[in-house]
Amino acid sequence: MEVISKVEELKKYLKNKKVGFVPTMGALHEGHLSLIKRSVKENPFTVVSIFVNPTQFLEGEDLDKYPKKIEADLKICELGEVDAIFLPTINDIYSENELIIKAPTIKGYILEGASRPGHFDGVLQVVLKLFNIVKPSKAYFGKKDAQQLYLIKQMVKDLFLDIEIIPCNIIRDGDGLALSSRNIYLTPQERNRALSLSKSLKRAGKLISAGKRDAKEIKELCLEVLKNIEVEYFEIVDYDFNTLDTIEINNTIILVAAKVGTTRLIDNIWI
Ligand code: PAJ
Repeated sequence: MEVISKVEELKKYLKNKKVGFVPTMGALHEGHLSLIKRSVKENPFTVVSIFVNPTQFLEGEDLDKYPKKIEADLKICELGEVDAIFLPTINDIYSENELIIKAPTIKGYILEGASRPGHFDGVLQVVLKLFNIVKPSKAYFGKKDAQQLYLIKQMVKDLFLDIEIIPCNIIRDGDGLALSSRNIYLTPQERNRALSLSKSLKRAGKLISAGKRDAKEIKELCLEVLKNIEVEYFEIVDYDFNTLDTIEINNTIILVAAKVGTTRLIDNIWI
């Protein structure tokens, strides 16, 4: 496995290779590994990037304390049979006074974008850079970050990029908590309370299976499960992130964001 930090070196190394690409911010877990495994299976060559992208963190967010576990990450990638790691520094990626990529004014500024205004500008900025460096034919993203996945698909379409975006299922712990690099911030008590997120979504799934379709009613019943944590939003949208009044089977995403102690968590379910 090659570990490369310089843009030009990686470009040269990847020339004429058909690449599957998994962009990450490191602190890898089974969720990331599921994307990696899928890429390794579906592509002759897999590149994983590990880069904690400063432009997608807002003032006061956890950029400085974002978990870093580079030795373990490299081991996980090695065992996952990754071919190359891209491990750049901030200066390898960014320069002074750059042009800015802007997320779309509506879909980039609702839900996660409303809680974290400008977050998706930074995500799209770095992902476009990474796409241009790695030039993958396929890139793998988790449904865990549903809005990110949607906006990256839109960027690929709007900018006519020749990249197939592959959505990957959410990986959870045995108790239902969606895996996240941020879960390590949780104390045992907070971790227990954090289960409310997945429990609320499970309840939504059950209500829908039982025939309920009214989004407002479902939301109210699910919010009961979330009483022990600080909910930022619980919303029901279609696959294009338009608000839904009525559940549409095969075209609904239910999303929740909440703070447990000081840790902000997100989760969602696709109906
Ligand atoms: P990061 O949070 O490290 O996530 C990297 C990829 O792993 C994303 O596509 C994310 O959706 C996926 N992922 C995370 N947890 C998952 C889970 N439990 N199940 C399935 N997939 C999961 O997302 C980012 O990094 C950054 O925004 C990035 C795209 C790298 C740009 O900086």
